[in-house]
This record gives sequence, structure tokens and C-alpha cells, in this order.
Amino acid sequence: MNTSFADFSIFACNLLSMKSKILVIGACGQIGSELTMKLREIYGNDAVVASDIVAGNADLMWSGSFEILDATDKGEVREIIEKYTIKEVYLMAAMLSGTAEKYPDKAWKLNMNSLFHVLDFAREGLIDKIFWPSSIAIFGRNTPQEHTPQHTITEPSTVYGISKLAGENWCNYYHQKYNVDVRSIRYPGIISYKTLPGGGTTDYAVEIFHKALSQGSYTCFLKEDTRLPMMYMNDAIRATINLMQSDKIKNFIAYNIAAINFTPQELATEIKKHLPNFEIGFEPDFRQAIADSWPHSIDDSEARKDWNWVPDYNLESMTKDMFLNLKS
Ligand code: SER
Repeated sequence: MNTSFADFSIFACNLLSMKSKILVIGACGQIGSELTMKLREIYGNDAVVASDIVAGNADLMWSGSFEILDATDKGEVREIIEKYTIKEVYLMAAMLSGTAEKYPDKAWKLNMNSLFHVLDFAREGLIDKIFWPSSIAIFGRNTPQEHTPQHTITEPSTVYGISKLAGENWCNYYHQKYNVDVRSIRYPGIISYKTLPGGGTTDYAVEIFHKALSQGSYTCFLKEDTRLPMMYMNDAIRATINLMQSDKIKNFIAYNIAAINFTPQELATEIKKHLPNFEIGFEPDFRQAIADSWPHSIDDSEARKDWNWVPDYNLESMTKDMFLNLKS
């Protein structure tokens, strides 16, 4: 390499480093992929570094910096944070409820170690702000299932739920004790058309759209009357970014947020309005017990009060938008 090119590379690297402030860990997942693109749209492509243990779609890989990163490796995470002078981390890497039941030790290691790494970096002043997703999975069989309150009995029955509840408590501890700015949302099931979810109990609500279009029928792994809280991706992304941008947060808790709730039968009925010949069958598997332990609906009044959370999409508008995008 000649000197002038080397100088230019160093200059370009420095320029990129100066601009880069946000790191998304788990950027190729269902939520991470759309969150990364939205953050790039808002803050600029150079300001948002995407990272994951695997490569992602072309849009994500080519619209800004991308790094292969194992979220459980503290040294690797520190290296990326220092390389790009990261100030905000969205830690989206996690093993979801279904898969975590099969690999409890791996799930605990991924879901907890990755969180400790970023909490520790914030504690030492390397980064300023963290987003870490929690889930409706923190609730369990003794939780009130209708309009589940923000503060209530939790007692999760899954490995995933236990890790998310422990994570919430650790976030709260780091905030109280070390003043770490870590913000969180208890996501319901998220429905999207761009990237498929993997290993979750609410995944049926995405799979059903793909099968409806490709095969005209779907066999659901939950019973027809299993009611769960759900949300369209557009709402989930807006909630996440609004929470991170808000200067009104008084409670550094993982907020309940709600949008829609429905059963597989109700979703199938809505799908039939677009595809009248669609047929659904039911063959419940081990995920039925997980779904049965989760809320039917969520009380999100604290999020509405503290940072003006309001969802946009209902079952009808979500289904319409899903088909519009999946067909095109
Ligand atoms: N969607 C998640 C799951 O089903 C719940 O947060 O595991």
C-alpha cells in the first residue's frame, strides 16, 4: 500500500469512528434487522454498526458497517465498542422460549453473559446507554392473565422467562447502584414480513402468513383458542426507539407494552378475509404449555403515561399490511 492510500484509509477509518455511535448486537435477527435499518434511516448509515454471529441480508450488510460478533465474548464486544467509539448499544441477541427449553445452559449463557458485558461497559463509562429487550415470558401461571399489570406476580416457568426476569432485575440493580442508563420493554409476540423469527412460542403468527400464501393452509402448534399478546413490527420498532429517545423516563423498569391480542383461530378468520380458501389445523406441541403460562392481554398504562406509548396497528390493519408486503 502506498503512503497516500494508507493515509486516506486511516482518515476514512477515523471519520467513520467519529460518526459511529450506535451498536446493534443481534442485528440479523427478526427485530434486530428492522431496528438496524430504522436507526440508520434516523441517524445515518455511518452512525449505526450492525453485528451478529452470522451474516445477514444484503440491505443490512451493505448499508453500513457490519461485524461478525459473538455477544458472549466480552473481549470481542469491547473491541468493537472501542473500534467505532460506540456510545449506545441495542443488545438484541437472545435465545427465545422454544429453543431455550431444548438448550437451557446455552440459553442462560447467551441471554445473561451478553447482558453482563454491556452493563459492565456502561458501569465503567465506556458506553452511555443500553437497550435490552425483556418479554411477556417473565410472567407465569400465577400471574393475572387478563390485563397483566406492570407490577405483579411473575414466577416464569421457562428458561427464557427466567433469564429475562433475572436480566430485568440486574438492569434495575445496575441502574440503582451505578446509575447505568439501561432501558427495556417487555415485548409481546412480534409479527413481521422481512425476517423470520426463530425458536419462539409466538412464531406461529408469522409462519401462518407464509404458509397461507405458499400452501393455502397451516397447521398451528398451538390450540385454536390460545390467546396471546402480539404486536406488529412497525409498532415494536417505534416503541423501542421512542423509549430510547425519551427524556421523560422516571422509572428504569422493563415496560409492559401492548397492541393486539388474538387466538390462532381469530388470526385465521382475519386471513380468510384475504384468502377465502385458507384452511387451518391444530397440532399442539410442547410450546402449548409455554403459551398457557403467559398472559392473554397486557396493561401498558405506565408506558402510555411515562413516554406516551400508543400502538398504531390492530389485527385488521396488521393483516392487511402483512399481505401487501408479502405479496409484493
Ligand atoms: N416471542 C417470544 C417467544 O415466543 C416471546 O417474547 O419466545
